[in-house]
Amino acid sequence: MNKILLSIIIYIASTNILAIDFNKLYKGWSNNQQVSYSASMGKELWSKEILPGKSCKSCHGSDLTQPGKHIRTNKIIKPLSLKSNPERLTKEKKINKWLKRNCKFTYKRECSPEEKISFIEFIRFN
Ligand code: HEC
Repeated sequence: MNKILLSIIIYIASTNILAIDFNKLYKGWSNNQQVSYSASMGKELWSKEILPGKSCKSCHGSDLTQPGKHIRTNKIIKPLSLKSNPERLTKEKKINKWLKRNCKFTYKRECSPEEKISFIEFIRFN
């Protein structure tokens, strides 16, 4: 009985620790500075080709609940939307790694804090 109770407590504690605190993540990106961002800004940027032929949409598509396809390798990419893929946006390390890589691929530079936060807000609520 005690063992079961303990496992339940550990389980609840671990899921809370693992859940991402987005406000904290955003403050880390912006270095605690006030930045303007929005999901709608993220949506607008999503399909914008700053460099010709390249946008987030190129690989992930515009409907985030649907799978995407890598424009170079043609590999299927699982949907980014949490509605169809609850594993998305659950690991800070993964988010940081892929934002860095994808921004470099798409814009040949890293994304600004405004851009990163807007993208994540767009993904979170779509
Ligand atoms: C060249 C193709 C490509 C482009 C362009 C691209 N991505 Fe990705 N993205 C990937 C791949 C591949 C992964 C990792 C594989 C996976 O998780 O399914 C990924 C993963 C991600 C993740 C990780 C989500 C998570 O928690 O699992 C985020 C966030 C993301 N992309 C955002 C973006 C944004 C924002 C842009 C535009 C600036 C963008 N991507 C452009 C291919 C691309």
